[in-house]
Amino acid sequence: ELSAADKAKAAAAERSVEFVEDGMRLGLGTGSTAAFMVRALGRRIREEGLRITGVPTSYATGQLAREQGIDVITLDEAGWLDLTIDGADEFDPRLTLIKGGGGAHLQEKIVASASSRMIVIADAGKRVEELGAFPLPVEVLKFGERASEALIRRALTVLDMGDAEITPRMRGAERLVTDEGNHILDLHLGRIGNPRALSAALNQVPGVVENGLFIDLCDTVIVGHEDGNSEIVS
Ligand code: A5P
Repeated sequence: ELSAADKAKAAAAERSVEFVEDGMRLGLGTGSTAAFMVRALGRRIREEGLRITGVPTSYATGQLAREQGIDVITLDEAGWLDLTIDGADEFDPRLTLIKGGGGAHLQEKIVASASSRMIVIADAGKRVEELGAFPLPVEVLKFGERASEALIRRALTVLDMGDAEITPRMRGAERLVTDEGNHILDLHLGRIGNPRALSAALNQVPGVVENGLFIDLCDTVIVGHEDGNSEIVS
């Protein structure tokens, strides 16, 4: 039996795979909501004989996709994708996203950027008026990480967010290492007035690989509800 939160995630996931058509090349997102989508896709492949190739956005999603009988290829093998379906940590009225709570936003952003369309699946708790209550993940190289952090602090100060807390992403007692071998710093900003300016300033810092703001990438959000219904926001 699913929890109320899982029912909402499953409702959004089930609705999202209705947008999948035979022959599509799909980007497969990461996280607990995306996992429901990968399983729903597996079911459609088994029941309807859909021919789908999938590009996973993380090692974990790749494993699950293979278990579900999805033909997994790399982004370079696919070249371009018809559709990416992924979760998010927050979305605002312009469908700007914060992602990377699961530590996969670098690959997720590359995959979404190489897709004709991005659908985000989420429960209603992810919907915000202004982004920033969820800490913004920034993937940084291990090399000179302290210097990169100091430069991030300087960039935040210029944008009037200099007092934000910056915390290293942990996995138990150890630093989390991303699929690409990097570290993550989480920026506790509270509110992000100008996502575009912030994203540009962060990605300008040497050592920053990618931040978790997704701007002009998401076309549609499917919000799942605990009663099993879902609504489309675009
Ligand atoms: C992964 O890096 C994130 O971008 C996820 O998409 C995000 O954390 C959503 O995960 P849940 O669906 O588990 O909330």
